[in-house]
Amino acid sequence: MVKRVFTFSSFQRTHLFADYRFLGVDMHSHILPGIDDGAKNVTESLALVSGLRELGFESLFATPHVITDRYPNTPATIVEAMDLLRTNLPLESKSVQLAAAAEYMMDDRFGALIDGGKLLTLPGNRVLVELSYIAASPGAEDQIFQLCIGGYIPVMAHPERYQYWHRSADQFSRLIDIGCELQVNLLSLAGYYGKGVERCAHQLVEAGMVSFIGTDLHNNGQLEVIRTALSSKKIARLFSKHQFKNISLV
Ligand SMILES: [Fe+2]
Repeated sequence: MVKRVFTFSSFQRTHLFADYRFLGVDMHSHILPGIDDGAKNVTESLALVSGLRELGFESLFATPHVITDRYPNTPATIVEAMDLLRTNLPLESKSVQLAAAAEYMMDDRFGALIDGGKLLTLPGNRVLVELSYIAASPGAEDQIFQLCIGGYIPVMAHPERYQYWHRSADQFSRLIDIGCELQVNLLSLAGYYGKGVERCAHQLVEAGMVSFIGTDLHNNGQLEVIRTALSSKKIARLFSKHQFKNISLV
């Protein structure tokens, strides 16, 4: 699983990972057909599942967006899409465990969804939540408290992508202090969203603040970036030093 590469510049050994088997579980992906900005149809879904399986992920959580104005998914729409994917899964992909959850935008309707008690969760009653990339919604902290009081554990998706927090890093520790677990994207670590996001992602992992690594996979192009990231010594060094809770979600 691990191959060793000699780094002449530092005279230190860097362990490159052959695949992502050490994570085992991808707990953030958009692999369901046709219900958000991820896979457009079953064919694309199958390609993404197959690609993640080849990269060493044995368990995949599909987490479609639930955004009131754009992707008003419900447990029914998500389960229906999951059933469609499962029905079409070829034999070689059946070894992968598939489960449905969701990625909830903390918009002004999210409070009502929490009250409704029908959230699709990750194991441990965890709820994957996201914020706008433009500005944090003013009600977000109240909704985090609402989740915690309701017995959920909020998992903040890709905090490194909220660039309005890059100059106020104490916001990240504030999230943890009020009960959130943090999930960083593999794509962020690989520089897919730009240097600032990459730097922030690495800093959060280095600081030991990150509970989960997710792919947040939407399409085949991103799959290639995730594959290429396996040859990054910088990312390999990071993963050698830090451990995550992905495998606990099996
Ligand atoms: Fe996502």
